[in-house]
Amino acid sequence: MKKRTELYAGKAKTVYTTDDPDRFILEFRDDTSAFDGEKVEQLLGKGVINNKFNAFIMTKLQAAGIPTHFEQLLSERESVVKRLDMIPVECVIRNISAGSLCRRLGVAEGETLTPPVFEFFFKNDALHDPMINDSHIITFGWANEREISRMKELTLKVNGVLKQLFGKAGLLLVDYKLEYGRFDGEIVLGDEFSPDGCRLWDAGSREKLDKDRFRQGLGSVVESYAVVAERLGIAL
Ligand code: TMP
Repeated sequence: MKKRTELYAGKAKTVYTTDDPDRFILEFRDDTSAFDGEKVEQLLGKGVINNKFNAFIMTKLQAAGIPTHFEQLLSERESVVKRLDMIPVECVIRNISAGSLCRRLGVAEGETLTPPVFEFFFKNDALHDPMINDSHIITFGWANEREISRMKELTLKVNGVLKQLFGKAGLLLVDYKLEYGRFDGEIVLGDEFSPDGCRLWDAGSREKLDKDRFRQGLGSVVESYAVVAERLGIAL
C-alpha cells in the first residue's frame, strides 16, 4: 500500500490517504508535544517505538473483542488503518489519581480510584480540551446516545484488558485517553495507544515511565518508553 496525499498533520502523527478510499496510513513522527502544543520537541526514535507499541496494544485489544482501526504495520514508522469518521471527543479512564484530576479536585496524586473515574473531554487545543459531559455531546451533535454508551462500554473493557497486560509486566496503568470514530455504522477505536497518551508507573517504585517525563522535564523520555516496550515483550 502506498501513501498518496498528506491529509492532516497532528501534533505527533501525520495521516495520509492511500489508493484505497477506506484506508489511511499513519506516520508516527518524533515530535512530542505537551500542554496543547505549547511545548514541542523532537525525541529521536519516539515515533518508531510508538508505532510498534500501538500495533502491539491494538492487536491485543482486537483479540479481546474491541474493534480497532489498526490493520497492519507498514514500516518502522507507518501503519495502515481503517478510515474512520472521527468523533471529536477524548475518553479518559483513571485508575489512580494524577494530572488534571488532581489540579481540578484538589486530590493528592497516587490515590487508587474505586471505581475508576470516566471523563469526556472536547478535543480542541485552542480551548485546552475542556471537560464535557454526555449532555454537551448530544446537544452539539458530536455523537448520539447509543454511540456515547458504546464509547463508555469499550473504554471500560479496554481497562480490564490493559490493567492485566501492564500488571503482568510490573506496571500500573494510572490513566489513559482513547478516541473513537465510525466505520460502517460501528464505533471503532482509533488514534493510538502509546506512552504519549497514558500514564504508566513502575508497580514497585512508582517511577513514571510515560509522557509525564516530558511534561515535567524528568529526562529519559524515549528510554522509558523503550523500558515499557521491553517489559511487554515488544521487539523494537
Ligand atoms: P489529564 O490528567 O491531563 O487530564 O490526562 C489524563 C490522561 O489522558 C493522561 O494519560 C494523558 C491523556 N490525555 C492525552 O493524551 N491527551 C489529551 O489531550 C488529554 C486531555 C489527555
